[in-house]
Amino acid sequence: MPSSTILVLETSAEVAAAIEGPLTRIGYQVTTTADPDDAVRRAGDYALVIVDVGSGPGSGVEVCREIRGTAAFSAIPVLCMSQTDDVEERVRYLEAGADDVVAKPFDPRELEARVEALLIRFQRSRDLAPLVLADGDAPARRNIIACFSPKGGVGTTMIAVNVATWLAARAPDRVLIVDLDLQFGQVATHLNLKPQLTIAELARDDQSLREPELLRAYAIQHASGLAVLAAPGTPESGRLITSEQVNLALSTARTAYDTIVIDAGSELDERSLAVLERAEAVVIPIVPEIGALKALHSLLEYLTEVGLAAATATFALNHLFASEMLSMKQIEAAIGTKVEAEIPYDARLYLKAINEGIPIVRGAPTSAPAAALGKLAAAAAGVDEGSASIQDGRRGRLGGLRRRG
Ligand SMILES: Nc1ncnc2c1ncn2[C@@H]1O[C@H](COP(=O)(O)OP(=O)(O)O)[C@@H](O)[C@H]1O
Ligand SMILES: [Mg+2]
Repeated sequence: MPSSTILVLETSAEVAAAIEGPLTRIGYQVTTTADPDDAVRRAGDYALVIVDVGSGPGSGVEVCREIRGTAAFSAIPVLCMSQTDDVEERVRYLEAGADDVVAKPFDPRELEARVEALLIRFQRSRDLAPLVLADGDAPARRNIIACFSPKGGVGTTMIAVNVATWLAARAPDRVLIVDLDLQFGQVATHLNLKPQLTIAELARDDQSLREPELLRAYAIQHASGLAVLAAPGTPESGRLITSEQVNLALSTARTAYDTIVIDAGSELDERSLAVLERAEAVVIPIVPEIGALKALHSLLEYLTEVGLAAATATFALNHLFASEMLSMKQIEAAIGTKVEAEIPYDARLYLKAINEGIPIVRGAPTSAPAAALGKLAAAAAGVDEGSASIQDGRRGRLGGLRRRG
């Protein structure tokens, strides 16, 4: 589907010309139909659909609802034309799932701007949402999972530790968490571990960076079955670690373990960029606060600019605050993409988990936060949420895991 094709559902030849003219001039290929059924049938062949029909059967609202109700068309933006600039009418279109509404009479420049904005927004969502699966399709297994946030204090470490612990419970000794918050990483604290060796010592040991069995000696084995490569003991020793060492460590670790979960912290430098580039899944916590959303927006722009379209990102809305003022719609609009996972607020559980050093998925496995974190872990790793074991074929097939062919 070329990204420049637009389908217009329009019964008035005069308005059709007013839509086609400006859009054709700026390079779009516009096809017009006057038949609502035809529009619904063919929506999937276009990059964007513009709907302009009045009330009654086959109305704009109905057509919009029908397109939106078809899972296969979920990536195609629908722009509706309202017959008036009445709020009620706009709301009806939005409720029917319209991605934007333009009121008639419209200014051609507004139409152009809205079409372009929608196409950009949907293109970005597509780049960012590979986790959407076709019906009946087995999820693609992802073995290197990074957690990163452009802002600290939003639950990045909490999520990384719980995702890793959840996966390790299903594949003991096969999952490694690497704390790449190189300044003040707290993964070991969240697991109540006191590391003797850390990634800083590993980075200085060139042989162990290359040999899986030697690298294993730098990880601490946690009772949950999770192996832990802790953050440097001091910020200075963290500063000395290079992106080449990080890359090497990840390559070797990938041979020693099936799954690597990385707490990539919240600082963007060559090391974290190397991780983001390398990761097969990136979990990005979002908190409902404007500062954090702005930081996230800048991060996404930056990643797109440097050619890292975060093709692997899963956005997890972490309800960090007891009271919230932003709706999901506002949040998705602010970051320009869909949010696939949510983690509930809890006044006590998260704090208790950190203070005791027992991750929620282990210490309070039946709680709502644990359920949400397990679901997120399964989605990020591309494994079945219900399976008891996710070990993969290299150590004997223990079932559960379905690989994409
Ligand atoms: N959903 C939540 N509800 C309540 N508190 C939370 C939630 N998520 C995280 N927290 C708290 O937020 C704090 C920061 O979490 P942390 O994982 O250290 O963030 P980061 O690694 O992003 O700096 C912790 O004290 C944690 O208990
Ligand atoms: Mg942290």
